Amino acid sequence: MKTRIAVLISGSGSNMQSLAHACRGADFPAKVELVISNNPKAKGIGIADAMGLKTCVINHREFEQRKEFEQQLDIKLRNNRIELVCLAGFMRVLSPFFVQKWQGRLLNIHPSLLPKFRGLNTHEQALKAKEKIHGCTVHEVVNELDSGPILGQAEVPVLPEDTPASLAQRVLAAEHKLYPQVLREFCANL
Ligand code: GRF
Repeated sequence: MKTRIAVLISGSGSNMQSLAHACRGADFPAKVELVISNNPKAKGIGIADAMGLKTCVINHREFEQRKEFEQQLDIKLRNNRIELVCLAGFMRVLSPFFVQKWQGRLLNIHPSLLPKFRGLNTHEQALKAKEKIHGCTVHEVVNELDSGPILGQAEVPVLPEDTPASLAQRVLAAEHKLYPQVLREFCANL
């Protein structure tokens, strides 16, 4: 049986697309059952619709409290019998209320070689630190931001002429390979 996964996005959704593409493989151990965006304008929702995936928007702005938003998220996931949640460019910090419910079944991709460069603007941070190697990390989500057990990493070189945008593009290409690889392994071991 394939693991029933949900992918949570906020923007362009290219990682969601690469996960969904991988999941179409007959021998891939997971299936994307639901794509949720907190942002009604996320480009990724259109991509997911076009791929024939079930989508839904839970707009965080419609809730006064973070907990209410997360409650809706949790209900939606449970109603769809989701077993594993993959954050993919999901730009809301999840509070302990949600994280504790899903701990061990909640993955994230972060555009740096953690524990280096937590938070935002990781490519700027890497350039500023004059790193020669940068990359991305898939990790389990725990209460502390961009922490949690590391499940896989991919490295890319930093070139002398790089800008944050060119570096982001190289890292993103690595993300698209890494996330499905890690998901495959994670689900195979569930
Ligand atoms: C990725 O670099 C991801 O690691 C970061 O935000 C970006 C999202 O890209 N958290 P996309 O929405 O998957 O295209």
